[in-house]
Amino acid sequence: MKVTIGLLGCGTVGAGVVELTRRRAGRIADMTGVRPVIKHILVRDEQKPRGVVLEGERLTTRPEDVLDDPEVRVVIETIGGIEPARTFILRALRAGKHVVTANKDLIALHGEEIFDAAEAAQAEVFFEAAVGGAIPLIRPLKGCLTSNEITDLKGIINGTTNYILSKMTETGAGFDEVLREAQELGYAESDPTSDVDGLDAARKLTILASIAFHTRVRLDEVRVHGIRSITAADVAYANDLGCVIKLLAVGRERDGALQLEVRPTLVPKAHPLASVSDAFNALFVRGDAAGDLMFFGRGAGSMPTASAVVGDLIEVMQHLRMGITETRGSNRLPKKQVHANQGPAGRYYIRLTALDRPGVFAKIAGVFGQAGVSMESVLQKRVKGEDAQIVIVTHAVSQGELAAAIQGLKDLGSVPSIDNVLPVEELEGEGPVLEDVMDDVVRTHPELS
Ligand SMILES: NC(=O)c1ccc[n+]([C@@H]2O[C@H](COP(=O)([O-])OP(=O)(O)OC[C@H]3O[C@@H](n4cnc5c(N)ncnc54)[C@H](OP(=O)(O)O)[C@@H]3O)[C@@H](O)[C@H]2O)c1
Repeated sequence: MKVTIGLLGCGTVGAGVVELTRRRAGRIADMTGVRPVIKHILVRDEQKPRGVVLEGERLTTRPEDVLDDPEVRVVIETIGGIEPARTFILRALRAGKHVVTANKDLIALHGEEIFDAAEAAQAEVFFEAAVGGAIPLIRPLKGCLTSNEITDLKGIINGTTNYILSKMTETGAGFDEVLREAQELGYAESDPTSDVDGLDAARKLTILASIAFHTRVRLDEVRVHGIRSITAADVAYANDLGCVIKLLAVGRERDGALQLEVRPTLVPKAHPLASVSDAFNALFVRGDAAGDLMFFGRGAGSMPTASAVVGDLIEVMQHLRMGITETRGSNRLPKKQVHANQGPAGRYYIRLTALDRPGVFAKIAGVFGQAGVSMESVLQKRVKGEDAQIVIVTHAVSQGELAAAIQGLKDLGSVPSIDNVLPVEELEGEGPVLEDVMDDVVRTHPELS
């Protein structure tokens, strides 16, 4: 038995899907009893060279060749963006075809509409490749880890910004220079907004958080800060403090409410996320039963992404063989509260420019004291003109205390600019884990207490 597939798009990911589906067709047939056959491939320009030699597959520029062919049971969407991908996917679902997509923008922004359409048509939608490229994230969160209450997600889920920050760290070059190079090498888009302003990571966090926290997260509920404000000076100071700067996507559930944020963060070099460089992605997950887990791998590229798409295709084929359809409309998920401006207490890096005059530092220290913010370390290295550049790392402070300290600095008159404020990540497992171990020791060996 064969299952006929329609492929929408044959660019970086689509070409990988053609290649890998062909390479694994025999194994898929052995596993599922059905052989996948890609019949039509929709593109914009039939004359364009493809990254794969086409055999029986027919290129077309007419969407109806794929979407209206009753023989096509599965549609794989690798066009990207919102339109026309959204219209094509909805049309495929309404015709009862199953859909596999790599499109994070569409799932993040129109997921509800798509899942509801799938449920109404009793068709399935799979989207493993939408987050983390080759790294299995969606299926573990939806499947293997469902018995857990997930409390924390933390990860590097945008390859372009990770590449830029890694290169800034390696070379000491500034953001603009490294971005230009990344664009020349094809690691960054000619319009880099979505990546460097953190929107791509926010869309992916929306998808991951919805699944991990069993709710529906909207994109506008994620607080987003990109990496444009990161300078070579920040990277150098971070290094002096034993850290690297990473764009982290963070989701937490505390007392039934969520905190969701994408933000450049100082990560200690000994932290597992610090060594995730270039185009690699990683996601740290904490579940109440599983404990701490870390997923790591290639977040993009033709074959890594095809690996996830074809994995989804195999699951569709298994379901077809077994005659089952798993659908879940969006309405059955409870909406959880999101606290946009609250986060747990944490340490912060503050880089500011102050007048280089006697008594100014004492005034700054006074402002911190009044706001209840204690300083963990202070660096004062580079001086520009009459001004001194000061970097302060605080002890753990609440967002309210931090805001009061920043306002106090602005009101001082001797601090012309506050140049950057970034959270500092704790080393996972530090402190509380040791305390837990000590508690256990004391419980089981009271003579030691
Ligand atoms: N690239 C990655 O590493 C990666 C990783 C994870 C997820 N993704 C996701 O995978 C999807 C595809 O990305 P990609 O990098 O493969 O994109 P791409 O290289 O730009 O390929 C897009 C393909 O879609 C076709 N297409 C675009 N607009 C079309 C239209 N209006 N009608 C018909 N065909 C159209 C293009 O046709 P022509 O070739 O004729 O122009 C091209 O073949 C996106 O959702 C992306 O976010 C990509």
